[in-house]
Amino acid sequence: MIGVLDSGFGGLTVHHALIEALPRHDFVYFGDNRNAPYGMRPPIEVLNLTCAALERLFAEGCTLVVIACNTASVVALRWIQQQWLPVRRREDGVVRNVIGIAVPTIEAATIDETHPSKVIAVFATRRTVESGVYPLEIRKRRPELAVVQQACPDLAGSIERGAPRGELRSLVERYVSEMLASAGQAPDSVILACTHYPLVADLFAAALPPRVRMIHQPEAVARSLTQYVARHPEYSAPGAGKRRFLSTGFSAEAMPLVERFWGGKLPFVEV
Ligand code: DGL
Repeated sequence: MIGVLDSGFGGLTVHHALIEALPRHDFVYFGDNRNAPYGMRPPIEVLNLTCAALERLFAEGCTLVVIACNTASVVALRWIQQQWLPVRRREDGVVRNVIGIAVPTIEAATIDETHPSKVIAVFATRRTVESGVYPLEIRKRRPELAVVQQACPDLAGSIERGAPRGELRSLVERYVSEMLASAGQAPDSVILACTHYPLVADLFAAALPPRVRMIHQPEAVARSLTQYVARHPEYSAPGAGKRRFLSTGFSAEAMPLVERFWGGKLPFVEV
């Protein structure tokens, strides 16, 4: 059983791609809507909430969890992998792993030699930008690349509350021009490092200079997970293709939001 964890419904953009890539695997999605958004929270809160969500997914029988939230991946994943999981393993003897979505995205952005980049721009929540994980991991792989980060503090929240397209366009244009001003040159590649931004990828493409390559995070993560489960069948073997959708704050009013991220209704259960 594979768990997919996000602060809310934004991770459904990633979940959709994972299910398409691995249709026979069993999945449980967990949206921590009661505590969303994570992007403005202090790191210690993000860490505690992520561990609580992981416990819930472990209780569902997940032995592999994808943290489909950039904020939680960059703030909490390293500590969880290095410190928390080994302790959990000693407690109950169950071997589990937790993986994130930042590194697969960074690999997709840095490995493609058919599109050599000099400048990569990263758009993300404030907490993801402050973590510095994207520039750090990009430079580890490609030290010659320049990385410019742009925090978009109002964007995920505006997408979540269903702000009109015109409002979202203005926000995206503002963040793109702030990024261009601080970079001093146009980027060759752009990473939309937030679960919500695929919904406004067209607005980013329109606001950015022509011929900029956009890294599609859900696809990059799906590719990476497919390779991972092939290499590590001990964490998750193909099953009957079961799906469960859990949320800490689901209400009927949230269904339009689910439909926006997923393209249809989903049988969410409140936990
Ligand atoms: N899921 C978050 C991310 O990808 C965006 C929403 C939030 O701030 O919780 O960073």
